[in-house]
Amino acid sequence: MCGIVGYVGPRQATPILLEGLQRLEYRGYDSAGVAVQNGHGLGVVKLAGRVAGLRHRLEAEPLPGTSGIAHTRWATHGAPTERNAHPHLDCHGRVALVHNGIIENAGALRAALARAGHQFVTDTDTETLVHLIEDAPGATLEARVNAALDHVEGTYGLAVISADEPGKLVAARRGSPVLLGIGEDEFFVASDASAVLAHTRSVVYLTDGDIAVLTPSAYHVIDRASHVQPRAVDELAWDLEGIELGGYPHFMLKEICGQPETVRSTMRGRLLFDEGSARLNGLNLTPGAAAAIKRIVIVACGTSWHAGLVGRHAIEQLAQIPVEVEQASEYRYRPKLQGPDAVTIAISQSGETADTLEAMRAAKRAGSRVLGVVNVVGSSIAREADGGIYLHAGPEIGVASTKAFTSQVVALVMLALHLGRQRGLPVETGRALVCRLAQLPGLVARTLALEPQVKALAQRYGSAGNFLYLGRGVSHAVALEGALKLKEISYIHAEGYAAAEMKHGPIALVDEHLPIVFVAPKDEVYQKVLSNLAEVHARGGDITAVTTEGDDELGALVQHRLSVPATTSLLSPVLTVIPLQLLAYHIAVARGCDVDRPRNLAKSVTVE
Ligand code: F6R
Repeated sequence: MCGIVGYVGPRQATPILLEGLQRLEYRGYDSAGVAVQNGHGLGVVKLAGRVAGLRHRLEAEPLPGTSGIAHTRWATHGAPTERNAHPHLDCHGRVALVHNGIIENAGALRAALARAGHQFVTDTDTETLVHLIEDAPGATLEARVNAALDHVEGTYGLAVISADEPGKLVAARRGSPVLLGIGEDEFFVASDASAVLAHTRSVVYLTDGDIAVLTPSAYHVIDRASHVQPRAVDELAWDLEGIELGGYPHFMLKEICGQPETVRSTMRGRLLFDEGSARLNGLNLTPGAAAAIKRIVIVACGTSWHAGLVGRHAIEQLAQIPVEVEQASEYRYRPKLQGPDAVTIAISQSGETADTLEAMRAAKRAGSRVLGVVNVVGSSIAREADGGIYLHAGPEIGVASTKAFTSQVVALVMLALHLGRQRGLPVETGRALVCRLAQLPGLVARTLALEPQVKALAQRYGSAGNFLYLGRGVSHAVALEGALKLKEISYIHAEGYAAAEMKHGPIALVDEHLPIVFVAPKDEVYQKVLSNLAEVHARGGDITAVTTEGDDELGALVQHRLSVPATTSLLSPVLTVIPLQLLAYHIAVARGCDVDRPRNLAKSVTVE
C-alpha cells in the first residue's frame, strides 16, 4: 500500500527520501510528496503520479534541509490528486505528517475540527491527524502526537516533523508497519525495509502503540503512557541485490526466473533425509501438540490463498488432519468455531495483509493456536503468530506474486510432512517425498526453459478478450493462480475453474475464440481431466495444456502443450504454475502493460 520514508541526520534529506520512495513505489503509487525541515520552516512538494515526476519537480524546486518525511500514496479516501497527496500540513504550515492506514472516525473528527475553526484543504482522512496535533497539548512534538492519537480510531503508521523542533522526527505505529533504520549519526523511518537497505541493515521494528522520537544524535521509543520501551535492533537478512533489477527488464521476470534458488532457500537446512521428515523448529509445536491437532483452518488472501488450497491437499493426505481454507476477508467476520485442538495457519508473503492479520487475531482470541507461513521477517503476522515457517524467498518486489507462491507450496508440503511423520506417516513415504523435494530446484530450472515456447503463445493470444483456466485437485489451485496472474497484469478477463465443475455452467462459454488453459499433469486425476478436455475439444475449444513431459495421451485434443518435468502430484503446482506465470508476464508485455506496477493494485494490502 502506501509507503513512508523519513530521515534525520547530517546529510541533505531530499535525495535520501526520493531514493527511499523509489524503492517503495512498488507498494502503492498514485501520488507522492516530500516535506523537509529547513531551519526556518517546512518546505513541501507533492504531486499526482510517479516518484520520477516528483524527482523532476525537486530538481527544479530544490528543498534544502537535513530532516524530512516522504510518502507514496495508494488512494483510499479522496482521489489521487496533488491536493490529496501526503505530506499534509496543519493550518499554519508548522506541522507536516505522512500516514499509512485508515482513520475510521475521520468524519466525526473532521466535523469537530472544522467547527473549532480548522481549515481542511484535502479530502483525506489523514488530514484530521495533523489538525489534531496542531491543537493537542504538550511541550514536545512527541507529547502532542501522543495526545492527538487519543482521539483516533483506526490504524496508522505515521511520521511527523514540526517547524518548531528542527531536526526532530516523530513516528508512531498502530496496525500499519513502521521500522527505524539505525545508521551512524543518522536515523531513518520507513514502512518497509527496502527503503533503508541502501543505508543500513540495522533496524528496529516498532510494535503497535509505540511512538519513536528521532534526532541526529539519538532515538528512543516510548509507549502511549510515555514510558521508554527497550526495542531490539535486528539485522536485515536481505541485501541490495534482492531489491534491484540486476539486468532484468522487470522484477516479475527476475522473480520468476529466480525460483530455482528461492525454492532451494525455503528448504535449506530443513530436509531430514534419514528421518523422512522436515526440520521446522520455528513451529514451536511439541510432538504431543502435533498429535493432538483435530482440525486446521488456513486463512489467506489472493495468491497466498491459492497456495493454501494446495496445502490442504498436502496436510489432509500426509497428516490426515481435516483442513479448511478460508479467504481471510470472509472468515474474519464469521463465528470462530475452533478451540484449543485447532490450529490456524495464516499464509502471507508480506505478513502485513490486514484481512489475514485480523483473521489470525480473531482465531487467536477464540483460543486457537496460530502459525504463520510468511516471507517478510519481523512482519506483523510473523511476530504475532505462536510459531511458523519463514519462506526465505527474499524480497518480492513485483506486485504480482510469483516466487512467494512456489515457496509457500514447498513450505506447506514440508509442514504436512512434518506433521504426518508425527502422526503415523511411514518413514519410507516420508523419505520418498524428501527426495522429491530435494530434486525440485533442478526441475524448476528445467521448467523455466519453456520460456521461448510460452512467449510465442503470448504473441498468439495477446489480443484475446477472455481466458479460461481449468484444473482438478491441486491443479485447480494452479488454474486459479494462472487466471489471477493474467488478469492482474494484462487486464484480460480470466477465470479459473474446477475442470469438472465447468460443465455445470462455464462450458457455455466455449467456442473457438476462447483460449482455454488446462493444467493437466499426470497425476491421480489425470484420466478424469482427459474426459473434461475431451468435452471442451468436442465444442471446438482452443486448448493449451500444461502437462507432464512424455505425455502422449493428449494427442489431437490440444492445440498447444507445455510440458513440465515429472514430480509427485503434491509438488506439481511448483512446476505447472511456472508456464502460467510466464504466460501472464509475456502477454502483459506484448500488450504494453506496466508489469511491475499494474493499475489499481498495491503490493501489500494493509487496509480492509
Ligand atoms: C497476486 C497478489 C495478491 C496477494 C494478496 C495477499 O499476485 O500478489 O493476490 O497474494 O494480496 O498478499 P500477502 O501474501 O502479502 O498476504
